[in-house]
Amino acid sequence: MGRVEGKVALITGGASGLGAETARTLAREGAKIVITDVQEELGQKVAAEIPGALFFKHDVRSEEQWQDVVAKTVAAFGKLDVLVNNAGVVRFATVEDLSYADYKFQVEIMLDGTFLGCKYALPKMTKGGGGSIINISSIGGIKGLSVIPAYAAAKGGIISITRSIAVHCQEQGYAIRCNAIAPGGIETPMTAQAVSELAADAPGLEQNRNLGMGQPSDIANAALYLASEESRFMTGAVMVIDNAETIR
Ligand SMILES: NC(=O)c1ccc[n+]([C@@H]2O[C@H](COP(=O)([O-])OP(=O)(O)OC[C@H]3O[C@@H](n4cnc5c(N)ncnc54)[C@H](O)[C@@H]3O)[C@@H](O)[C@H]2O)c1
Repeated sequence: MGRVEGKVALITGGASGLGAETARTLAREGAKIVITDVQEELGQKVAAEIPGALFFKHDVRSEEQWQDVVAKTVAAFGKLDVLVNNAGVVRFATVEDLSYADYKFQVEIMLDGTFLGCKYALPKMTKGGGGSIINISSIGGIKGLSVIPAYAAAKGGIISITRSIAVHCQEQGYAIRCNAIAPGGIETPMTAQAVSELAADAPGLEQNRNLGMGQPSDIANAALYLASEESRFMTGAVMVIDNAETIR
């Protein structure tokens, strides 16, 4: 028996990086996988490598598309047990240089996208008898980093919304847990982009280099724990996985 045997998991931003690795990890432990992403070709490719997995093209900013992918997941697998709100983007600029359009773009994908995912997954999870929501935050939502004001707002907001939803589920007597993961620097296409776009002496980069970067599996294994019944007493929590970066 796998650690998440028979559970149905929907993972946004699953075409790349942490989402793709989380999909592979949960599948290895017996979950049925639905990957969604705006990157269609890459998403199809990741899904094709996972036996039985489905891919749906999905922009997490769209309320309509959220309703659609949740309905399609339940139609395909009969239920929804695990939601990983993972889709994300980053635009580097200080508050003085970041355009309002780029601010809204990031907040809509990461914070609004997470809100919509929780909103439409919850009723299906309650019908199925329970579940686990895993929201991907960041250490950028915990510490002050000057070049990511919108990303920080979204990721800090994700921690707050996670707590609110966890308490709501308890108050309602739902067997649904809601937790966040706050990764530090992990080697993915997103961080490769950061390294190429940011000046070598950009604030925050030096410390990252000194502490080293994590691997996608470092986060996927945490998601596996949160998705499984092993974390049954854990809700409203933030798992910081950053090689001690935030405590320095
Ligand atoms: N890599 C890190 O160091 C790190 C650290 C902290 C947090 N995170 C967070 O982890 C998550 C995954 O990041 P990653 O490093 O794997 O990056 P990534 O760029 O490899 O993957 C992000 C995925 O999100 C998808 N996406 C972007 N906009 C979308 C939208 N509107 N709708 C649906 N999908 C969309 C992208 O197409 C991509 O496949 C993000 O939320 C990111 O902020 C990453």
